[in-house]
Amino acid sequence: MSLPQRIAIDGPAASGKSTLAQRLAEALGYLYFDTGVLYRAVTWAALQRGRAVEDADAMTDLATHLTIDVRPPSVDDGRKYEVLVNGEDVTWALHSPEVDVKVSTVAAHPGVRHALLAKQREIGQRGKVVMVGRDIGTVVMPDADLKIYLDASPEERARRRYKERLARGEPASYEQILRAVYYRDELDRNRQASPLRPAEDAIIINTDGLDADQVFQRAMELIAQFDAEHE
Ligand code: CDP
Repeated sequence: MSLPQRIAIDGPAASGKSTLAQRLAEALGYLYFDTGVLYRAVTWAALQRGRAVEDADAMTDLATHLTIDVRPPSVDDGRKYEVLVNGEDVTWALHSPEVDVKVSTVAAHPGVRHALLAKQREIGQRGKVVMVGRDIGTVVMPDADLKIYLDASPEERARRRYKERLARGEPASYEQILRAVYYRDELDRNRQASPLRPAEDAIIINTDGLDADQVFQRAMELIAQFDAEHE
């Protein structure tokens, strides 16, 4: 077998990246690494400390000095991994609506991106990894063996996020989530530093009308094809 050692999955908010990546990682016995948690951790810390997320220097300083640990779950509450910021468990807090609204502003600062890049590359270099984000195929692992770009309409993506929140027993408004999806798409696509876009050699999967199983099947076909081409 000749499997792709490094798999990059990019795409806009709630396009199904995490679900696909988790399933692939499990099927292949690889590490799943969701780079969004790094940007979310910096955003969470900024909100906690009352710092302005527009302040590039303050955000870069936070990103440089925070200790962010991503490790296997130690609590059985549905989490797939856990995130500690300076030792504090913030796994669920990272997905609050407050962080959702601010995270793309934080992620647009080039200094923040630079500070978080080394950690991502170091994990990428170890291989046997499925890494998820916005710029994995273009910047973090431009030489990944397989690059998948997941897309879906804003409405479909907002519906998925809405269901996720309800399933976690959290209050949710579809309208508010849809607005946040549009807002984040706009910021992520139009920023100067590493904007969201498919790498030239990425395979684009539009997931509108596809369920998680169908997307997984499609990705497994791509892996089988890679194997056949590299034997
Ligand atoms: O799960 P969802 O797709 O909603 O978000 P996420 O993957 O946790 O990413 C949250 C935000 O972090 C994105 O909207 C981007 O602004 C930023 N991000 C980024 O800029 N680069 C990455 N590699 C990952 C996330």
